[in-house]
Amino acid sequence: MSCQTALPIVDSALHGNILVLTLNNPPVNALGVEIRRGLLAAIDGAGDNPAVEAILLVGAGRHFCGGADIREFGKTPQAPTLPEVVQRIEDSSKPVLATIQGVALGGGLEVALAAHYRLATGSARLGLPEVLLGLLPGAGGTQRLPRLIGARAALELMLSGRHLSAEEALGLGLVDRLGDSDDALAEGLAYMRQLLAQGATVRRTRDAQALNEHTAQRQAIDAARQQATQKSRGLLSPLHIIQAVEAALDQSFEDGLREERRLFLECLDSPQRAGLVHAFFAEREVLKAPETRAAAPRAIARVGVVGGGTMGAGIAVTALDAGLEVTMIERDQDALNRGRGNLEKVYDSLIDKGRLTQADKAATLARFSASTDYQDLAHADLVIEAVFEDMAAKLAVFAELDRVCKAGAVLASNTSYLDINAIADSVSRPADVIGLHFFSPANIMKLLEIVVPSKVASDVVATAFELAKKLRKVPVRAGVCDGFIGNRILAVYRQAADHMMEDGASPYQIDQVLRDFGFPMGPFQVTDLAGGDIGWATRQRKAATRDPRARYVQIADRLCERGWFGQKTGRGYYLYPEGPRSARQDPEVLAIIDTERARAGIAPRSFSNPEILRRYMAAMINEGANVVHEGIALRPLDVDITLIHGYGFPRYRGGPLKYADQYGLPQVLADIREFAEEDPLFWKASPLLVQLVERGENFDSLNHSH
Ligand code: CAA
Ligand code: NAI
Repeated sequence: MSCQTALPIVDSALHGNILVLTLNNPPVNALGVEIRRGLLAAIDGAGDNPAVEAILLVGAGRHFCGGADIREFGKTPQAPTLPEVVQRIEDSSKPVLATIQGVALGGGLEVALAAHYRLATGSARLGLPEVLLGLLPGAGGTQRLPRLIGARAALELMLSGRHLSAEEALGLGLVDRLGDSDDALAEGLAYMRQLLAQGATVRRTRDAQALNEHTAQRQAIDAARQQATQKSRGLLSPLHIIQAVEAALDQSFEDGLREERRLFLECLDSPQRAGLVHAFFAEREVLKAPETRAAAPRAIARVGVVGGGTMGAGIAVTALDAGLEVTMIERDQDALNRGRGNLEKVYDSLIDKGRLTQADKAATLARFSASTDYQDLAHADLVIEAVFEDMAAKLAVFAELDRVCKAGAVLASNTSYLDINAIADSVSRPADVIGLHFFSPANIMKLLEIVVPSKVASDVVATAFELAKKLRKVPVRAGVCDGFIGNRILAVYRQAADHMMEDGASPYQIDQVLRDFGFPMGPFQVTDLAGGDIGWATRQRKAATRDPRARYVQIADRLCERGWFGQKTGRGYYLYPEGPRSARQDPEVLAIIDTERARAGIAPRSFSNPEILRRYMAAMINEGANVVHEGIALRPLDVDITLIHGYGFPRYRGGPLKYADQYGLPQVLADIREFAEEDPLFWKASPLLVQLVERGENFDSLNHSH
């Protein structure tokens, strides 16, 4: 090494005749404005420096580069832009090698694509995940990548956002060589020296030839467009990506870049991009509960699950898939056999789909045991109770757990609604009791509400967050109340849907409006899927405590009295003559609704689609505000993540409270006040919403206060 110059966060060091430029912006070397300036200056400087024969780009720390600085999106752009920097790298008259360790994502991969040679170490992961943020690769990626690896492979990468391994990247021709070690600097220097010795010169990706086979490329683009039109459900960026790749095929490199820029800016300005970026950061913020900073988690290796029904079996699968040991407890041998059967069914269906082998299943089940004897939980580090939703049943289980579990074991309940403080108070060790509210199917759904009772120890909460990470769940911290965050909000917007149905909208119209908004299913389809009997039982349980003045729509009860519980009984709000995929509207349901309207003395009126959406969203937002106001959710973003990962809220809208900010809080409040004129008991504006409107602030202003 002969000289060292200091440029802002791009370290520059001459190793013989090779200038090493190190992107240094922890933790992922994102390409913020300073790093862009530094890189540009360093490349220009290298061009003018006769001592430099070649340039090596590496990343400091674990990663090459995680891409553009996502925090800059939506702010005033500052020069130089990333496309300018990238172009300058490609234009360099001295050969440039990018050595990729860790990730090269988004703009990070685009920088590497502009280099003339690419080496990846074994740990490298490469991808263009912009689509997941509502964007497209806007620094030449849509033009260079297809020229390098062809339209089909490029589109697959850009439309899925997935990461490639180093080997896959080599196979596609995206990198030229794999390193033998993870020492990016040593590997890069060795390769660059070899290239120089061979007389290698600049080799620009813009001149690569993979698009030359025109017909095949056109077919790949047409096929991608057809698929994306069907699948992307209102998303802008997938179709824009395809259009940009089409420009790469049809236009000159320079014109293609111009088209890419135009399309990129359209994506950048869209509310979809704002929603997706909000979701990205919110998913990281939910991990930061106060207890995770205050305490270290307890070790978890052995897990007990009490109950082998829908939830118990799914939770057991999740824990097994995370490599944990699992013991299932059921109340008798028959129930235990059913529980084991429920669990095996999950693995057998994966085997049927060719996604698992019998040997994999056997290896996983070697960590599973089942018993009717609580004593077998004596060594468990954590036990999750998932028996019937009945307080007496839960208290009996917790008494057993208190008796047999070792000191320090975490005792968790998967209850949907019951008071976890009361459960905690029933045992001799309330500090060890917590709620772990999984969603059905528990081995698939990402959300895990971590319900924090008043006496729980901080390290138990920290353990729950650590468990979520192991189980690859998205944890959200929730306080104790009826329904916690998600089910409490659901109960309110579901009632708003029932009110609209009784007032004149059909369940089919309401479902359609919500599907058009981006939910995979409408609320009545969800009821049919989950089983109408579950809600029916909850309504019966709560009948005694219901406010007699509150509006109560009886239509669902009429369907349940007929045994129409949804998909599992072949009919609910819909008819299912040939299974779940054969849903049809049911004239008999419409007739029942008419009868109920008449019984309630309601003259039906028509609802426009926008009005349905306005009412549904106002109910959801208002209860979301209450949940934040009461401290049940730490911040608005916790509500957003709960609804996205547990209730099918469209991610590109960022969650209900992000949507509310975009829609405008004064308008939400005005909607609620308008609806309150008909039903002031149901439509009571949340105090938090009123305060925010008075202060001229939005929900996002509360996201950064913890
Ligand atoms: N910009 C700004 N911050 C980023 C970032 C980025 N591109 N990538 C990660 N971060 C931040 C995270 O928010 C997090 O911050 P906090 O610690 O304050 O919460 C921190 O870096 C670490 O991130 P993770 O917790 O996610 O760390 P990880 O090791 O689990 O994962 C990663 C690392 C794989 C890079 C992951 O962070 C990731 O996928 N990042 C996003 C990558 C991406 O989408 N890049 C494309 C950007 S768009 C683009 O480049 C557009 C263009 O073409 C012009
Ligand atoms: P389920 O009825 O499918 O299963 C309950 C199981 O518990 C049965 O197998 C039963 O034999 C067993 N059981 C009952 N008493 C027992 C005891 N004393 N000891 C051992 N096992 C006993 O019920 P499901 O749907 O799995 O629900 C379980 C819990 O999870 C409930 O608290 C429910 O509210 C909650 N939950 C349910 C969700 C769902 O969508 N089904 C979602 C999230 C939570």
